Amino acid sequence: MEAQLRGNREYRVTFLPEGKEAWVVAGATLLSAAAAAGVELPSGGDGICGRCRLIVRRGKVEAAPTLHLSREEVKAGYVLACQARVQGDVEVEVPPESREAVAAAVDLDAREFLAPEAEAGEKFPRAPLVEKLFLSLPPPTLEDNLGDQERLFREVRRHRPAPILQAGLKVLQAIPALLRESDWRVTATLAQRGGTVELLQVEPGDRSGTAYGVAVDVGTSTVVAHLLDLNSGNTLDAEAKYNSQRAYGEEVTRRIIAAEREGPARLQALVVEDINDLVSLMVERRGIRLSDVVAVLCAGNTAMVHFLLRLPPGALRRHPYVAAALAPPPVRAAEVGIRINPRGLLYALPGIGGWVGGTSPPGS
Ligand code: FES
Repeated sequence: MEAQLRGNREYRVTFLPEGKEAWVVAGATLLSAAAAAGVELPSGGDGICGRCRLIVRRGKVEAAPTLHLSREEVKAGYVLACQARVQGDVEVEVPPESREAVAAAVDLDAREFLAPEAEAGEKFPRAPLVEKLFLSLPPPTLEDNLGDQERLFREVRRHRPAPILQAGLKVLQAIPALLRESDWRVTATLAQRGGTVELLQVEPGDRSGTAYGVAVDVGTSTVVAHLLDLNSGNTLDAEAKYNSQRAYGEEVTRRIIAAEREGPARLQALVVEDINDLVSLMVERRGIRLSDVVAVLCAGNTAMVHFLLRLPPGALRRHPYVAAALAPPPVRAAEVGIRINPRGLLYALPGIGGWVGGTSPPGS
């Protein structure tokens, strides 16, 4: 069939044998089309590694010459996906060697990181960034008629040092009914934000035993998550998967280029979905409510943290290699699309420089 041209010279690329499709602009590489279609290809560096092999079955591409393919392979339609540019509707086949390379890599690393029965009981000095505190407040009287917020803050300060304590409007709006309906016995979730303590939420009754957090190693190749009981400090579970951004290349630089070309939203969405997948797997397995997961702490190289927070990463790969932020402040996890308690926080370990990532916990 004649090449199907849409408004802005976009062409359809179909990946066989799965039949996955993507629409890309004329001149886009087959590698970026694969990423858009959700097809994973082995890769390792533009035109250098020779791993991103595809066979063009139909349609026109413009392929740069390469020493990685023999004359016979070129005749048979082989191209390097990162070196072949789309010039019309195309059908390409992912050859068995490319599929096997991806599958082999997944098997190898997943076994390395998965820890189905994570070890409990290993102790470190415990200073949770977020904690739940059960409070029994004295009801107001004519002699003690502080406002509800101030009454709550006073009680928090009786238990924890919190010179600067603040609460969001939504929490303030909920407090009056909540305090009275729960007979002034509530659980406050407190989060460290720099030098400030934020009252994240107030729950009726004693829910202090249900505080969970997730620690995530956002690696360039692999995303590894640990589910933690914030009361005991024990690791309850662990899960890992490949970083879905690999569809844009193994190297960080290629992903930065992709983020500059297409905007950072797609790179962010991929890693956020990876984190969400891991978190939901673990909470389901452990029978934990997602709303009781109140914090996510991520460690990663500086570029990974940029992708996660959708910070513009372009300056990282250009002299003098400057980060948008080395120590980003905690943000609402929901703001970046991470599904935990809607008011839960996302902390990112501060980096050392543009090319050296996470060090010690924020605020330590
Ligand atoms: S040759 Fe290595 S990614 Fe294409």
